[in-house]
Amino acid sequence: MNTQTPNEPLQALDDETWRDVVTAIDRTYSELVDYQERLEAQNRELDEMRQFMASVLSSISEMLIVIDRAHNIERTGGALSDILGIDTASMIGTPLSDLLEAGAGKALSDAIAEVMRDRRPRVIEVSFLTPDGPTPLDVSVSPRLDPRGRSQGVVLVGRPLGELRNAYRELEASHTALQNAQAQLVQHEKLASLGRLVAGVAHELNNPISFVYANTHALEKYTRRFETYFDAVQSGASRPELGALRDELKLDRTVKNLRGAIDGAKEGAERVRDIVEDLRRLSADGTGEKVRFDMVQTARTAADWVVRGTKTPVRIAMDGAAQAFAMGNPGHAQQVVMNLVQNAIDALADTADPLVTLHAQARDGKTVLQVRDNGPGISESDAPAIFDPFFTTKPVGKGTGLGLSISQKIAQENGGTLTLAATGPNGSCFELSLPAGDPE
Ligand SMILES: Nc1ncnc2c1ncn2[C@@H]1O[C@H](COP(=O)(O)OP(=O)(O)O)[C@@H](O)[C@H]1O
Ligand SMILES: [Mg+2]
Repeated sequence: MNTQTPNEPLQALDDETWRDVVTAIDRTYSELVDYQERLEAQNRELDEMRQFMASVLSSISEMLIVIDRAHNIERTGGALSDILGIDTASMIGTPLSDLLEAGAGKALSDAIAEVMRDRRPRVIEVSFLTPDGPTPLDVSVSPRLDPRGRSQGVVLVGRPLGELRNAYRELEASHTALQNAQAQLVQHEKLASLGRLVAGVAHELNNPISFVYANTHALEKYTRRFETYFDAVQSGASRPELGALRDELKLDRTVKNLRGAIDGAKEGAERVRDIVEDLRRLSADGTGEKVRFDMVQTARTAADWVVRGTKTPVRIAMDGAAQAFAMGNPGHAQQVVMNLVQNAIDALADTADPLVTLHAQARDGKTVLQVRDNGPGISESDAPAIFDPFFTTKPVGKGTGLGLSISQKIAQENGGTLTLAATGPNGSCFELSLPAGDPE
């Protein structure tokens, strides 16, 4: 290192001065190395940052456009080139309006001007030119400021509206389809239980009606005999003649039978009246009218109706208390028991000696009815799902999967519960529990 000009005479430096110079050089050099290292580290950081930004920008599914104050494109990113079908590099420095459908530029440049003025972001629908023709995009316009808070332009983030709208429309369509399918299934279950009910009722009514019919038939026959006898009296027949006619017409026996026929017809009619009464109770809707009723009787009626309506031969046994009073809507309870008995009968299709047992009892202030079957039981994997709406293991057209979920809801509306109490290879047991009715 030579700092002297050539025409100055060379002066000898003393040792002290040399040491100072060397130390200064040393220090400067090590500062230089430090500085260099820091610069390199910053460079690396900058590089990483740039790569990070680039990767983030390119993975954004929205399009990104950075606009300078003159509304020219400064930077792009995201899905812009995909959406517009142009190479992004060629856009830099070009006016934003080049990307827009003719006539769409005014609204956007107005929005940009406003954002730059009041620095509040806005969202606007703008039509861009794409390979598929003009496409509306939902564009949010946000202000871009320099470190000193001066406006530098704006950032546009856009997303194709059509895509969003289509996705939304598809979602809505499948939602509607699902709703329709559900409504149909509910309707199906309603019809199915109505069908079961009607079949049971028809069967039930058939008996007493034929009873009434047979007895009125007998009454008609007796009436004819009396008419014959009275005609003979009227036409002045002699006492012996009348006596013979009485024997011939078996009038003494007929008088005795008359009472029986009338009683029989009355009994049949009363039975019909009771059935209609049952039906009325069943159809009484959930107006929340809760009364005290006998669970045993309700369960028996329900089971009778289901059994009459099915072709499967199945034995129904009643055990437990002879009477068990509950509070609630008896029509609702009947509906639940009908569902449970129907499920039990369905499960018994392949059982050798099919048996459904109804067992009512009072327990902890509740009246509990168990419906047991000796069917194959419910598998461990199915059991948690059986109360879910639409869960069914039955073939399409047979099961709707709504019986248990509706029944459980009915039980809850009546202040009770419906649970699966036990299940296994020897059968299942469902429990309907309702608040107990006051003892009489
Ligand atoms: N007693 C039972 N024994 C065996 N499985 C049953 C019994 N009761 C209900 N299940 C099961 O629970 C499912 C749901 O019953 P449910 O809600 O009434 O609908 P569905 O009878 O229409 O299938 C049935 O498909 C069946 O798999
Ligand atoms: Mg069912």
